[in-house]
Order: sequence, then structure tokens, then C-alpha cells
Amino acid sequence: MMIADNADLIQPAGPEETQTFAGGHLIEGQIVSAISGRTFAVINPATGVEVGSAALGDVHDVERAVAAAAKARQAWAAVPARERGAKLARGASRMIEKVEVIARLLALETGKAIRTECRPEVMTAADIGSFYGGLGSELKGETLPFRPDLLSITVREPLGVVAAILPWNVPLVLMMLKIAPALVAGNTVVVKTAEEAPLATLMAARVLAEELPAGVLNVVHGFGPDCGQPLVEHPLVAKVTFTGSQPVGETIYASAAQKLIPVSLELGGKSPMIVMSDADLAKAVAGAIAGMRFTRQGQSCTAASRIYVHETIYEAFLESLAAAVRKLKIGNPLDEATDIGTIISRDQMDRIEHFVRLGQETPNVRMIVCGTVPDDKNLDPALFALPMLVADVPEDSPLMREEIFGPIACVVPWNDYEDVLKAANDSEFGLAASVWTNDLTKALDATRRLNAGYVQVNQNLTIQPNLSYGGFGKSGLGKEASLEAMLEHFSRKKTIVFAG
Ligand code: NAI
Ligand code: MG
Repeated sequence: MMIADNADLIQPAGPEETQTFAGGHLIEGQIVSAISGRTFAVINPATGVEVGSAALGDVHDVERAVAAAAKARQAWAAVPARERGAKLARGASRMIEKVEVIARLLALETGKAIRTECRPEVMTAADIGSFYGGLGSELKGETLPFRPDLLSITVREPLGVVAAILPWNVPLVLMMLKIAPALVAGNTVVVKTAEEAPLATLMAARVLAEELPAGVLNVVHGFGPDCGQPLVEHPLVAKVTFTGSQPVGETIYASAAQKLIPVSLELGGKSPMIVMSDADLAKAVAGAIAGMRFTRQGQSCTAASRIYVHETIYEAFLESLAAAVRKLKIGNPLDEATDIGTIISRDQMDRIEHFVRLGQETPNVRMIVCGTVPDDKNLDPALFALPMLVADVPEDSPLMREEIFGPIACVVPWNDYEDVLKAANDSEFGLAASVWTNDLTKALDATRRLNAGYVQVNQNLTIQPNLSYGGFGKSGLGKEASLEAMLEHFSRKKTIVFAG
């Protein structure tokens, strides 16, 4: 059964207040049901009520989507690069026109607050589209000085069909970081949405796809083993780009090795923030809130979740950070006054609660709770995790070593610079780090020695479209964002030699 041939985005059903959404796959420009006809429920984590459903994809749907992408490949690669970029940029500006409807759906399915997270996410995703939209003519090659009688050049070619596997935490931004450089470089794409949050991704992709030839951008929904894995393993998929957990990243890397295809992996983090004694306290406190992504309930791979504060300002820092976090309003994600919404799912909440218990059981650890569960009969309190500062945590505690992916920041004092650098680098991850000081010499030294792919001084920005982003160690492989990502990770280089 087709859900609808030329449906506007996905088909809403029922009166506005109880509206539910039925998200099909997007294959060859059409919204279609799963071949099996099966669907899965998408739940609003703030209320426990169904937002709608999505097509439950399996190997057969993947086959259909990859076939569509493979069929569209040659013609798309033949479109001049600047024109490919222009089409993407047009799609990105149409996303901005639809910001309210997309952001609302994102808030409904993720529990993230509309004002602090969902609306900015749509705008950032569109910005990434517009950034890459202007980079078509940068797919340049080189002239190689080889022999005077020969002309030796390199040219960049698309890789083919790219599989983009998404997580639920910032699905629109992460989708754009993958598909925008892939499409401008002349590849066609199959996106696999996150099972917790497929609908806003579909809605945004549909808006983009309206500006693209059929089959250039396809979207399938479904679970990891049944839908993600066959996509990775498909013989016509030439590249996989993935953001998610470390174990799944490792599985994908192993599968891709069987076909000898390239992968980009953005995995976990446990990013340190080092606050020196001379740091501007107010700036550092604001930086900790931004870095910890408290308004995203801490659900970020880049979260500044290990905060090392010099002992001379430690208590003052803790006190101001707790006071500042307490000012954030926890509530209904759709309410414009809300700063902090809910955790995505019961599974993620269980994980957070495990770490909270661990903190409570660790001697001498202070658990500073910064908020209360909203008292609102329209909400289900189950997935509202309270922001927490966990102070004086021992360095070897799992709280300091494992990614929590929740609103829990570990804060510890330090007094010796060499020791704190060693502690900061003592992690299997290496995604991001920040240093807070007005001493240029110290800042320069720390930035050189910190083992992380994204090191900032006196700020904690998120991913920026034009800055290379990617982790060291178990945080992943390859770079996202920037011109470099498009050239190095979504195109291949061919050398050509001409004799006269
Ligand atoms: P996950 O890694 O299981 O899922 C991410 C995506 O991979 C989803 O689309 C899923 O369907 C897909 N997937 C799962 N198994 C697959 C397989 N065998 N082959 C292909 N695709 C597969 O992450 P999950 O379960 O959502 O979260 C677990 C933990 O992962 C979180 O607590 C957090 O620590 C980390 N995580 C990190 C993210 C990041 O931004 N780096 C984002 C989301 C989660
Ligand atoms: Mg999982």
C-alpha cells in the first residue's frame, strides 16, 4: 500500500490536538510503506503518548532504496557541481520556511525543548546545507609537475551510493553534515533514520528531496540489525557514514572491511574542560552549561562532562554553576518558556539512573541536584532527568570514564597542571576538550598537549559548518563539517596523465 503518492511530507491523521503522523520511507521521490506493510510506534517521551508511526524497514526496503540511489547515480554525477550545490541550497532555504512544522515534530518525538533546541537545530541544519551548497566548485584537482611533455592532473569523482546512519540526539544536523557534502560531491544517498526519532528527519529530507531528482536522496526507517546492517552490507553501497555508539561503530567498521569501503564514524566522548585559577568565572560557568548541553539533557557526544576546576576557585565555581543550572526551566518541550525537556527513551533513562545510583554509592561524592520534575498533569514525569553536578568524583570511577549521555556533569578539583593534563588525557575517547584561562602561554601549551580532535579556549561551541570536526581514539574516524570532509570523505581522487 502506498501511503500517498504526492503527499505533502507525511500524512497527518485526526484532529489537530490528537494529530498523529505516519512516516513512510522516501524512495525515488515517493513516500512508500514498508514492503512488509509493518510499522513501528514513535512515542512522545514527554507524555508517553504516540506521536505516530514509521515504516518498519528490512532488507527488502533497503534493496529498493539502494536500487533507487544506484539508478539515479550517473545522471546526478553529470549535473555540474555548482548546480548540485544550488539545488541543495534551495532545499535548505525551504527547510527554513518550514521551520515551525519541522521543529514541532522534532520536539514531539525527541522531548527536546522547541525554543532552546529544536528550532535552532532546523536552522543549523539549513545553514549546513547552504554552506555546502556554495562549495561545488571547490571539488578541484591539481596539476602535477611530472614531465614537461606530459600534463598530469588529478580530478575528484563521487564515490557512488552513500549510506548515512543517524542517531536520535540531533538527527537533522547530523543528517545534513552527512548528506550535504555527499550530495554536492555528486553521490546519491540512502539515509537510515534513528528508530526513536524518524519523523522530523523524514519531513526535512522530503523538503530537500523536492529540489532534487528522484532517487538522489532516499530515506528508510527501521532498527539497527534489520535495516541498518543490510544497508551497510549492501554490495552497491560505496561508503558508510555513521554517528552513534562505539560498539555499533565497531560493528559497522568490521562489515565495511568485508567490502573494503571507506567509513566515517562519529562515536562517543568524555570531553574534559580545564578551568585554570585565573579563568573568568562567569564565562567558565556559562561555558560549562553550553558545553554540557544541559538544554539537550546532556545528550551529546561532545558534552563537556569532566570539568576540572582549579582548587582555589572550585567551591565558587560549583556554587555558581549549580545556581545557573537551577535557573533553567524544566518542562513541556513545546512550551516556549521551557529550557530543558526530557530524555529520549526508557533505555537511555535506565542508563542515566544507573550512573546516579553509582554516584550515590561512591563514598565522599557530592550529588548536587539542580532542578525539580515539572508538576504538570499533561506530562509523564518518567523521563525527566534532573540536571546534576557530581562533585569530588574519583578519577577511576565509571562516572569519569564512561559516556553517560545525560545531564550529569562530573566536577573535580585540581592543583597541579601536569596532573590535570594527564587526567584529562587519560581516556579512551578524544573528541573535544576546552581550556579556560587568560594566560596565553598556558592556553597554547594545553591546546598542544590535549588529546582531542576539537580543542577550544574560553568557549565551548558546538560543531560549526566550516570547522573540521572528528575525534581521536575511540571517538571515531574521519572528519565531518568543513570543505575537508567533502573532499576527503565523499569523493575519490583520480590521476590522469596526458601525452601530447
Ligand atoms: P546506536 O549506536 O545503537 O544507534 C545509532 C544508529 O545506529 C541508529 O540508527 C541504529 O538503528 C543504528 N544501528 C544500530 N545497530 C546497527 C547495526 N548493527 N548496523 C547498522 N546500524 C545500526 O545508539 P543508541 O542505542 O541510540 O544509543 C546508545 C548510546 O550510544 C548512547 O547512550 C550514547 O552513549 C551513544 N550515542 C552517541 C551518539 C553520538 O552523537 N556520538 C548519538 C547517539 C548515541
Ligand atoms: Mg542501540
